[in-house]
Amino acid sequence: MAAITETVELEIRKEIALLIVDNPPVNALGISVRRGLADGIQKAADDEKVKAVIIICKGRTFFAGADIREFGKPLEEPVLGQVLEIIDSCRKPVVAAIHGTAFGGGLETALACHFRVAVSSARLGLPEVKLGLLPGAGGTQRLPRLIGPEKALKMITLGNPVGAEEALQNSLIDKIIEGDLTAGAVKFTETVIAEAWPLRRVSGMNEKVEAARGKPEIFSDFRKSIVRKTRGFEAPEACVKAVGASVNLPFDEGLRYERDLFVKLMSGSQSAAQQYYFFAERQVGKLPDIPKDTPYLDIGKAAVIGAGTMGGGITMNFVNAGIPVTLVETGQEFLDRGLGVIRKNYEITASKGKMSAEDVEKRMSLITGTLSLEDVSDADIVIEAVFENMDIKKEIFSRLDSICKKDAILASNTSYLDINEIAAMTSRQESVLGLHFFSPANVMRLLEIVRAEKISKTVLATSLALARKIKKIAVVVGVCHGFAGNRMFSQRGREADNLILEGALPSQVDKVIFDFGFPMGPFVLKDLIGIDLGWSKETSTGSTIKEILCEMGRFGLKSGSGYYRYEKGSRAPINDPEIDQLIVDFSEKKNIKRGEVSDEEILQRCIYPIVNEGAKILEEKIAVRPSDLDVIWVNGYGWPVYLGGPMFWADMVGLDTILEGLKKFQERFGDVWKPAPLIEKLVREGKGFKDF
Ligand code: 3HC
Repeated sequence: MAAITETVELEIRKEIALLIVDNPPVNALGISVRRGLADGIQKAADDEKVKAVIIICKGRTFFAGADIREFGKPLEEPVLGQVLEIIDSCRKPVVAAIHGTAFGGGLETALACHFRVAVSSARLGLPEVKLGLLPGAGGTQRLPRLIGPEKALKMITLGNPVGAEEALQNSLIDKIIEGDLTAGAVKFTETVIAEAWPLRRVSGMNEKVEAARGKPEIFSDFRKSIVRKTRGFEAPEACVKAVGASVNLPFDEGLRYERDLFVKLMSGSQSAAQQYYFFAERQVGKLPDIPKDTPYLDIGKAAVIGAGTMGGGITMNFVNAGIPVTLVETGQEFLDRGLGVIRKNYEITASKGKMSAEDVEKRMSLITGTLSLEDVSDADIVIEAVFENMDIKKEIFSRLDSICKKDAILASNTSYLDINEIAAMTSRQESVLGLHFFSPANVMRLLEIVRAEKISKTVLATSLALARKIKKIAVVVGVCHGFAGNRMFSQRGREADNLILEGALPSQVDKVIFDFGFPMGPFVLKDLIGIDLGWSKETSTGSTIKEILCEMGRFGLKSGSGYYRYEKGSRAPINDPEIDQLIVDFSEKKNIKRGEVSDEEILQRCIYPIVNEGAKILEEKIAVRPSDLDVIWVNGYGWPVYLGGPMFWADMVGLDTILEGLKKFQERFGDVWKPAPLIEKLVREGKGFKDF
């Protein structure tokens, strides 16, 4: 065994050279790996004894891609494309032996090899598009040649990986190795040598791309199929164009075309935002005072109180992860309805072929419905998901304290309420916290973990581990009204409501926010959630547009009308002149002078206060870092990831510009617009949130 670089070793086994790479944690293709591969292939090529080469990685995975940390810096040679050219043109067979994830530049490396074998658990993909990029080392030219442009379009433009079985069916790999990968790869390579298989250079395989030539509908149909999903993103269209080049240009020209597109994307703001976001999501679970080795409790059994929309969704998260749940309701009718909704959700998934009928039954069998709170006594965690009412929650927690076993964690799924006050009802404040799931809880990935004052480190570490297990992105936040997400969100809601009284109409506000990149504007969203949330007939006084709409029975989409009208069975909002007039009349009644409001003002008034509130949240230490707030907004509120999140976006716009805007609005509307001292300080120091 000879070390070629600090991350690559060369081992000669009879006629086979093994290039063994060890660059933890994910064998990213940094400079020492690239150099090691290039030199290693050269050495093997020069060694007469060697008849073939295997590229294999140690640790948890094959190459997970280019080293993203090198992006934005001058790249040291050899760059990946040069290394892959050396592999491709090697006169001896080169075999990629894949385990874990062959992602991005990793899969591109495998594609430059002449053969590919993989263990059955391996996953292969080109996720560059999720970083605002396209595969820049030949992936867009080799993959269509190997698996055909139609399948390549999907893999490259959507960025989703395939498993080994599918890869085998698509000819992306040549064999699945059962048992030890090294032994299996060596055996495969021995056959290649013994039977003198000709080299299979993907760069020279033209049959599948030629078959697609003169069929532009392949691309136009595909573009149509992704138009909604990829609205606003630049990279997907570049991916489609690059795959188009594989069909219409010779390999080398296609490579140059791919390179040009890659460089353009790499220097753009979307890719910068998406790369930032990649690391933001990976940092979010790391807390300065909770080291990685903090002990945590095993959660083998859960209980959820309340089988409504939230409780049902939360229950599904647990059973999806194989954790049994006791689901508590106050009446049989509510319990049956809740269980029925859960079953229906699973059955819909099964009808789409994403789950078997057997799986549906298996998951349902993990749920035990009950009307007795006493039945939660053996749960390791209890999550209360009842109506947002402090008195009810306090009573439940006080009862839970006497029912639950000693170490059980007690969580409330409140969206606004003071967890410390709830915790104080128990004799185990160290075990009480908030777990704020977002609706629909079985779909939305965000989870705010609300760190109550007296929570123990073990309980916090347990909740972080649990979040990973139930596949949530958890952000730890402190206690305040609305925590981080809703507290920032309510700022936008306030301004949207003001704007329609001052002269804008819901459709104008919604268009500005939609065009910014959100999936929908604030009023379409209100219609979708239900305008009657938090409204009651008894206390309604018709003093806001919301109250008037509710009094008219216009609760939003569910009742067929709200700020907009809806055709039966359709979710598409239709402008309603009656409501526009109602708003105009309401302004007049309130003596609010209406005037034209520019789109620019709408945008600033809806987005700047989100940033300002975020800054206050950071000052108050409710959130650990600005990027945590960005993770909340991307995952919980539909902020477009190609704009990074509100705090990243504010840095991009320039904090001085934001500060100027806040001051301008403070003069017009008073101190709700007062700039956060943190923003003033950062601007004074010529810094941004990135320096926080
Ligand atoms: N470069 C640098 N660091 C990387 C990396 C990469 N490509 N991929 C992961 N890491 C780091 C993470 O930041 C994390 O670091 P930390 O421990 O300091 O926080 C560590 O590796 C472990 O990553 P995860 O926490 O994500 O571990 P998981 O086991 O959950 O996931 C993974 C592993 C599936 C490989 C996931 O990390 C992943 O999807 N990585 C990115 C893959 C990717 O996007 N590849 C394409 C890169 S661009 C490219 O190749 C361009 C080319 O076409 C020229």
